[in-house]
Amino acid sequence: MIKICIVAGARPNFMKIAPIIEAIDTYNLTTDKRIDYYLVHTGQHYDQKMSELFFTNLGIPTPDINLEVGSASHAVQTAETIQRFEKVCLDQTPTHVLVVGDVNSTIACALVASKLGIKVVHVEAGLRSFDRDMPEEINRVLTDAISDFLFITEEDAFENLRNEGISPNKIYFVGNVMIDTLLKHKQKAQESEILGMLGLNHSPATKNRLTTDYCVLTLHRPSNVDNKETFQSIVEALTEISLHFPIIIPVHPRTRNRIREFGFMDLFIWPSNSTLPFKTGSTGIYCIEPLGYLDFLQLTSHAKIVLTDSGGIQEESTILGIPCVTLRENTERPITVTHGTNVIAGVKKEKIIQATFSQLNRYKDSGKLSIPPLWDGKASTRIVNILAREQ
Ligand code: UD1
Repeated sequence: MIKICIVAGARPNFMKIAPIIEAIDTYNLTTDKRIDYYLVHTGQHYDQKMSELFFTNLGIPTPDINLEVGSASHAVQTAETIQRFEKVCLDQTPTHVLVVGDVNSTIACALVASKLGIKVVHVEAGLRSFDRDMPEEINRVLTDAISDFLFITEEDAFENLRNEGISPNKIYFVGNVMIDTLLKHKQKAQESEILGMLGLNHSPATKNRLTTDYCVLTLHRPSNVDNKETFQSIVEALTEISLHFPIIIPVHPRTRNRIREFGFMDLFIWPSNSTLPFKTGSTGIYCIEPLGYLDFLQLTSHAKIVLTDSGGIQEESTILGIPCVTLRENTERPITVTHGTNVIAGVKKEKIIQATFSQLNRYKDSGKLSIPPLWDGKASTRIVNILAREQ
């Protein structure tokens, strides 16, 4: 019998664990074997909007254990997670600890498991930006180095792991669990009221006819928002782009704090909840609260273009066929550029403006390019079938 401890800590983890849990449940229902599992939330993200909403939207069961580590410096957050998670592993004695992505919770829990002789399963292994200034890159390299099962989303990851001396016997190309979630919820997201709430469609009857073209923006990477000069250069580019159509940004708490600290409040529009701000000809950068999964999916699905510094959104826009401009100097997800709708613009004002308008031109008539191999909604089933061989 195998007993898997599934770990989630921060917002981008929740959509990755949801389909894995569902695939285990299906396995248990449809075979005469059983995989036991329990869910640990480290509490790295804890706001209703950054965490709870995703559990409701995605039907994720309530975590069996919440470590409630909260926000702190990287060292404190990681150390607290390690300390609290070790106790859980000693109490629950899992055979495997499954971690996803590249957040602090990922490396912290992988490290605990590895030291206790528990097998480490890393979902979304092998992605590399080759930029060690990114805290996530450190988390990726270290987690992969101590993992026993490395499930990869794209073929380039195989080469990256081989170059770091990881045995090919541990690497499995299974596809992308985040895309499992997107494909499952795409239809349901159309029931979201977000376009109407923001005044972006004409009426409930003409749900998908927009009053205006708009851009969706997400921005939260420390390298972009913690440095005033870089943030300013990005905001200047956004201001210019927003003269052509409105930009909507669901604001991450880190970004909101920096906007206040840097005195940038006046560069943005902060509509109150009761206002329906958009109409034909609207311009400007509109800050709204972080959205739940379904609302965000609906909003991006109808956007003219997406600007982002997130990892997952580069992948999601590829599958949605929406042009994406990545506000970073690199990506750990090169397949979104070679197969998808993504370009890497960097963070300089002129480059961002140029990349945005050239993307709009490129996708003027149609969106979709090819779908990356195995991004077919079945990655979680493949993972569970491979883990099931362990019993
Ligand atoms: C983390 C991840 C990053 C991921 C991002 C998604 C690491 C190293 N980084 O970055 O990979 O892309 O989450 O959102 O693990 N805060 C709240 N409420 C919350 C969570 C955070 O107010 O629920 C605030 C805190 O003030 C905190 C700040 O946001 O200081 C940043 O949160 P933190 O967890 O440190 O890192 P993220 O920037 O969210």
